[in-house]
Amino acid sequence: MEKPIITNHRKLFWFILLLPLSLLFLYGSHQYFSSLNGRNTHFSFLCTSLAGVLKPCSLGVAQKSRNQSDEHSESCSGRYIYVHDLPSQFNDDLLRNCSWLLRPWYDMCPYLTNSGLGRQVENSEGVLSENSWFQTNQFVLEIIFRNRMKKYKCLTNDSSSASAVFVPFFAGLDVGRFLWTHNASTRDALGLNLTRWVRERPEWKKLWGRDHFFVTGRIASDFRRPADNDWGWGSKLLNLPESMNMTVLSIESTNPWSKNEFAVPYPTHFHPSSEDEVHQWQMKMRNQKRHYLFSFSGAPRPFRNDSIRNEIIEQCLASGNLCKLLDCSSPGNNCENPVEVVKVFRDSVFCLQPPGDSPTRRSTFESILSGCIPVFFDPGSAYTQYIWHLPKNYTEYSVFIPRDLVKEGKVRINETLLQVSENDILAKREDVLRLIPKVIYADFRSKSEILEDAFDIAVKRVLERVETLRRQINNGNDLILN
Ligand SMILES: *[C@@H]1O[C@H](CO)[C@@H](O)[C@H](O)[C@H]1NC(C)=O
Ligand SMILES: *[C@@H]1O[C@H](CO)[C@@H](O)[C@H](O)[C@H]1NC(C)=O
Ligand SMILES: *[C@@H]1O[C@H](CO)[C@@H](O)[C@H](O)[C@H]1NC(C)=O
Ligand SMILES: *[C@@H]1O[C@H](CO)[C@@H](O)[C@H](O)[C@H]1NC(C)=O
Ligand SMILES: *[C@@H]1O[C@H](CO)[C@@H](O)[C@H](O)[C@H]1NC(C)=O
Ligand SMILES: *[C@@H]1O[C@H](CO)[C@@H](O)[C@H](O)[C@H]1NC(C)=O
Ligand SMILES: *[C@@H]1O[C@H](CO)[C@@H](O)[C@H](O)[C@H]1NC(C)=O
Ligand SMILES: *[C@@H]1O[C@H](CO)[C@@H](O)[C@H](O)[C@H]1NC(C)=O
Ligand SMILES: *[C@@H]1O[C@H](CO)[C@@H](O)[C@H](O)[C@H]1NC(C)=O
Repeated sequence: MEKPIITNHRKLFWFILLLPLSLLFLYGSHQYFSSLNGRNTHFSFLCTSLAGVLKPCSLGVAQKSRNQSDEHSESCSGRYIYVHDLPSQFNDDLLRNCSWLLRPWYDMCPYLTNSGLGRQVENSEGVLSENSWFQTNQFVLEIIFRNRMKKYKCLTNDSSSASAVFVPFFAGLDVGRFLWTHNASTRDALGLNLTRWVRERPEWKKLWGRDHFFVTGRIASDFRRPADNDWGWGSKLLNLPESMNMTVLSIESTNPWSKNEFAVPYPTHFHPSSEDEVHQWQMKMRNQKRHYLFSFSGAPRPFRNDSIRNEIIEQCLASGNLCKLLDCSSPGNNCENPVEVVKVFRDSVFCLQPPGDSPTRRSTFESILSGCIPVFFDPGSAYTQYIWHLPKNYTEYSVFIPRDLVKEGKVRINETLLQVSENDILAKREDVLRLIPKVIYADFRSKSEILEDAFDIAVKRVLERVETLRRQINNGNDLILN
């Protein structure tokens, strides 16, 4: 039960301030308390179970605040992270020129407000919860991750005591500027400078970068140009020897070939500030009436002969009222708008998640948020990707229909889904709802910490991985790693 010092003081402060209020409104006060206290389940649990007898709460708080500093150093042992103070050319300068990022498609500037969360969604007409939904771009994970890291409670400026070293490079924003130009050296330039900069720091020599990690907000294949010519896609950042020694997190990894890459959830539009907001949202999605058996939100991929999206769309249309199609290729449908997407997904039992330009989709996480059971057609869309965040046993939370069967017209999606029993649907949906906290990135500006989210899980697993690598290296087993 490790709590940051600030939270404990806050807690005490609020408790004293609100004690008389709570006595007046015994039953109403609980919600207020737990939302103020965020992650502090210990505290709100006591207050809930002993509603009417508030003293035990105060005892719990006082006791915790007495030896909190012991708790802090204890809980941080083995979890300290040193963050490299990179020259601004590797991160902040990229944000300054935001109208050029991702050109020529659109201006990224509106997505960078609220420190990368994007504009707050207004007027959702009750579809979304107030204040915690944003117009978040799907390629901003590196910004979100860096901001969360600034609030990580076990930061250290003493690199010798750090368990891991974070490199806050905005690799995706960098390469995104040049992906559609035919000059490989411009795509590689900043990444080459970054790897050189990192390699020349004293921290590198300790483990040759094995304890370093960085995050890319774009899929890993944008950084794995197959051949060293101008026509191949992407940069060669992840092929550089320095990168191969580091741990790399991205929204889609190039697995199963790469041992040092790990996929973490795409950023969605939901960035709650308290545990209560998460619980209320889960409850709202649990009680939602769902009129469609399944739905699909997306566009066809006419230039990809291996795409099954045409078949998906045809089967959806042929299923009449069983299926809802949100056709993202038609101008009237705003698939970028979380209100429109959630409206469809919360009204559906199953959400189809076929591959698009690459195997994974942000839509997978939007369907989880909406309590809509994802249907996958390729194991690379989730099962072999998000191994840190999603359950190993994928039948618990999803349905799998092999893409070849769809391509060859050997399966009827509507009939397959109609065969899933009501009990199985309920069980799967519960598991999907339980995944919600694990796949969101909480609003880092919130004063209270909230339940373990996608960031917390990723950092925990990076630390575990580095610890394992360290042990192997100390045992002289370094070769196993490559
Ligand atoms: C923290 O305080 C409690 C109660 O005073 C005590 O029982 C416990 O041993 C203390 N823990 C540490 C690590 O000092
Ligand atoms: C922004 O980026 C573009 C393309 O890389 C470049 O031509 C332009 O000079 C940059 N503008 C500023 C103000 O840095
Ligand atoms: C590290 O150093 C910076 C600059 O001196 C300071 O602002 C920051 O609070 C320090 N962080 C920690 C965790 O000590
Ligand atoms: C690519 O850009 C570099 C500068 O970054 C330039 O020196 C080189 O001539 C360009 N190559 C081509 C083929 O345009
Ligand atoms: C990379 O570093 C070199 C040498 O310091 C510098 O001339 C060049 O402008 C840098 N390139 C980029 C893209 O920052
Ligand atoms: C990567 O690590 C190996 C040892 O595991 C080391 O020999 C190699 O020099 C490192 N690469 C770089 C670029 O530092
Ligand atoms: C798709 O196109 C590629 C090259 O254009 C070709 O090699 C491949 O056989 C085609 N696949 C199918 C399923 O038609
Ligand atoms: C199920 O989908 C098929 C096309 O894949 C269609 O012919 C059939 O009518 C649909 N059945 C129902 C009950 O919608
Ligand atoms: C996986 O989950 C399903 C559904 O919950 C269950 O029936 C099955 O036994 C599980 N399989 C394993 C290997 O745990």
